[in-house]
Amino acid sequence: MRKNIVAGNWKMNKTLQEGIELAKELNTVLATDKPKCDVVICTPFIHLASVTPIVDKAIIGVGAENCADKESGAYTGEVSAAMVASTGAQYVILGHSERRAYYHETPEILKEKVRLALANGLTPIFCIGEVKEERLENRQNEVVRAQIEGSLFDLTAEEFSKIVLAYEPVWAIGTGLTATPEQAQEMHAFIRSVLAGKWGKEVADNTSILYGGSCKPSNAKELFANPDVDGGLIGGASLKAADFKGIIDAFA
Ligand code: 13P
Repeated sequence: MRKNIVAGNWKMNKTLQEGIELAKELNTVLATDKPKCDVVICTPFIHLASVTPIVDKAIIGVGAENCADKESGAYTGEVSAAMVASTGAQYVILGHSERRAYYHETPEILKEKVRLALANGLTPIFCIGEVKEERLENRQNEVVRAQIEGSLFDLTAEEFSKIVLAYEPVWAIGTGLTATPEQAQEMHAFIRSVLAGKWGKEVADNTSILYGGSCKPSNAKELFANPDVDGGLIGGASLKAADFKGIIDAFA
C-alpha cells in the first residue's frame, strides 16, 4: 500500500550550520515522539553530506531539491544524481514549479532528470501543478495531465512505481492561499485516474501523492484526511522544527 509522507523542501534557506542545527533538532524530536508517517527533508546540495549522517535513517529520509539532467562532465555548477546519491541522500525533488518557472526546466529536461535519478537509486518527488490563470480558466486538469505525460509517460510501470508525486498548485505556494481540502482531493483523485489509465489501478493505488502549497499545522489535518492525499511537501513551515512536527502530527 502507498505510504503517507511529510517532506520538507528547505528551498534556498539555511546556512550549513543552521541546517545542521535544524536536522539535529528534528532528529531529537522525532526520536522521542516517533512519526506515524515517513518523514523526508530536502536540503540544499551543500547540506546533504553533513545532514545524512546526523539523522536516524529509520525515521528521517534526506533528499536534494534538484539534480542535473546530465550524467557527468563539463557542466560547471551542476550536481549529478550520482553525486546526490553518494552523500547518502535517498530522494530528489524534480520539476518544482520554481525550477520550471525561473530556470526554464522543460518536460524533456525533467524526463532526463527523472531517468538519471532512478538510475542512481534515488526516489524522485515529482512536482506538478497549475498556475493561477490556468485554474481561473478551469484548465488545471489538462495542465497537470500534460506535465505527467510530458515527463513520466515513457516510464514502465515498474519504474513509475518508484516515484512520489507532489501536487503543488502554484497559486498556493508561499502565498498563504491553500487549496481547499475539496480542491486537493478532486485534483489528487484526477491524478490517480491518469496514473490508472496509463499504468493500471494497482500502480495508481500504490502511488503516494503529496499536497504542497501553504500547508501548515493548522490545515494539514483536514488536507491529509482526504482519501487521495497521502501527505505534504512543505516549504516555509519545514524551516522550524515545531511547525514541521505540527504537520507530521496530522498523522496521529
Ligand atoms: P510553501 O509551503 O512555503 O507554500 O511551499 C510549498 C512548496 O513549494 C514546497 O515544495
